[in-house]
Amino acid sequence: MATIVLGTAFGDEGKGKLVDILSHEVKLCARAQGGHNAGHTVVANGVNYDFHLLPSGLVNPACTNLVGSGAVVHVPTFFKELEDLEKKGLPNVRGRILLSDRCHIITDCHIRVDGLEEKELAGRNIGTTNRGIGPTYSTMASRNGITLSEMFDEEVFERKLRALAYGFKKRFGDLLEYDVDEEVQRFKGYRTELQQYVVDAVPLMSDAQAKGVKILIEGAQALMLDINFGTYPFVTSSNTGLGGIFTGLALDPRKIDNIIGVVKAYSTRVGSGHLPTELFDADGEKLQKIGHEVGVSTGRPRRCGWLDLVVVKYSHAINHYTSLNLTKLDILDTFPVIKVAVAYKDPRTGEEIPSFPADQKLLESVEVVYKEFEGWNSSTTSVTDWYSLPLKARKYIEFIEEFVGVKVGWIGTGPKREDMIVRK
Ligand code: GTP
Repeated sequence: MATIVLGTAFGDEGKGKLVDILSHEVKLCARAQGGHNAGHTVVANGVNYDFHLLPSGLVNPACTNLVGSGAVVHVPTFFKELEDLEKKGLPNVRGRILLSDRCHIITDCHIRVDGLEEKELAGRNIGTTNRGIGPTYSTMASRNGITLSEMFDEEVFERKLRALAYGFKKRFGDLLEYDVDEEVQRFKGYRTELQQYVVDAVPLMSDAQAKGVKILIEGAQALMLDINFGTYPFVTSSNTGLGGIFTGLALDPRKIDNIIGVVKAYSTRVGSGHLPTELFDADGEKLQKIGHEVGVSTGRPRRCGWLDLVVVKYSHAINHYTSLNLTKLDILDTFPVIKVAVAYKDPRTGEEIPSFPADQKLLESVEVVYKEFEGWNSSTTSVTDWYSLPLKARKYIEFIEEFVGVKVGWIGTGPKREDMIVRK
C-alpha cells in the first residue's frame, strides 16, 4: 500500500520531516519526478543528511529506494550524493538505491543551456536553479533527450549527445561553452559504474505492489510549481502534483492509502513569481527570521507571507489530499494577530474569484481577503498532544480543516522529528 507526500504550495513546506518519520515504516521509498533541484535536510540520530536527487528513505537501513521514470538524473550528482551519505555512515546505500532505466539524463550540455536560456528571458527570469532540469525535460518532450537505457549503448549515446550539442550550438553559437568530447569520454566510465543501479522500474513496482510492500512516495517541489497547474511560467518543468506521481511511477491508483498534503503555517516562495499574501512589513521579516526562511542552496532570504488557503484549497482540488500536515505552527507563537487568506477579489469587478486564477496578470492584481485570528501568545514548541495546544491554536487549525475540507492529521511544532502532533 502506498502513501504519497506532496507539497501544497510553493515548496519548502517542510516535507522532509514527515517523509523521514514515515520512511521508517516502509520497505520502498520512491521519487517520481524532478531532479537534484529538490531537497531537504533530514536530521536523524543527531546527523544532518542532505537529499537532492535521492529519496530520503535511505536513512532507514531496511528501505530500498527508487528514482522513478519521471525523474531526471545528473550522474555526477548521483554519485556525489551517494558518497556523502556513505561518509556520514549510512549503511549499504549503494545496495539500496535503484534508478529507472527510463529516466532522462541531465548532461553538462543541458546545464550550460539552462543558464543561457535564463539570460534570453532578459528580466523575465523564471529563477531556475541552473541545474539543467528544464532543458532536460524540454529535450525529453522534443524527443531528442537521452535516457539511462540509451546510455548503455555507446554508439547511440555518442550519436545522440553530439546531435544535442550540435543543435544547441546552432542556437547559441559561441555563447555555449561546452566540450562534447570530454562528456563522451566521461560517460565511458559511468557506463560501467552505473550498471548495478539501473533497472526496469515497471516490474519492480508491480512486484512490490502485488506483494503488498509498504511504499512511500516522496513528492518534490510543490503544486504551485507544477508545469500544468502552477503559476506558469514561474514553475518547474515537471508535474509536481498527483499526476506526476502516476507518470513517473507505475503506481496502481487502487493501492493508495494516503495522500498527505504538507502545508506550512505561513507562505514562502523563492525565485520569481507572484506570492499573493507576501508581506513587505515587520511581520514578513519576523516570519523570515523566526522561521529561518533562507534558501538552502542560494542562501537568499525567502519571501514570506500569511498562509493562503485559496492556494491550499486549489491544491486539494488537484491532489485530493486524504490528510494534511501543518508544519511550523510554533513559528506563529508570538504573533498578536495571525491572518489567513480566504478569497481573492478581482479589482476590476470587486467580485470574488471562484478559484486560483490562471491569468498571471490578474493574479498580480488581486485583492486578498483575510480572516484574522487572535494569536495564542504562548509556546507550542515540542508539544506532541492536541489538547496541550492553546485553544486559540486549535481553533486556527480547525478553521483550516473546515475551509479546505481535509483533516489536519499531523502538526509540526519544532524542527526535531519528535516535535509532531499526530491525530489519528
Ligand atoms: P521541502 O521538501 O522543500 O519541503 O524541504 P524541507 O523539508 O527541507 O523544507 P525546508 O527546506 O524549508 O526546511 C525545513 C526546515 O524547517 C528544516 O530545518 C526543518 O527541521 C524545519 N522544520 C520542519 N518542521 C518544523 C516545525 O514544525 N517547526 C519548526 N520550527 N521547524 C520545522
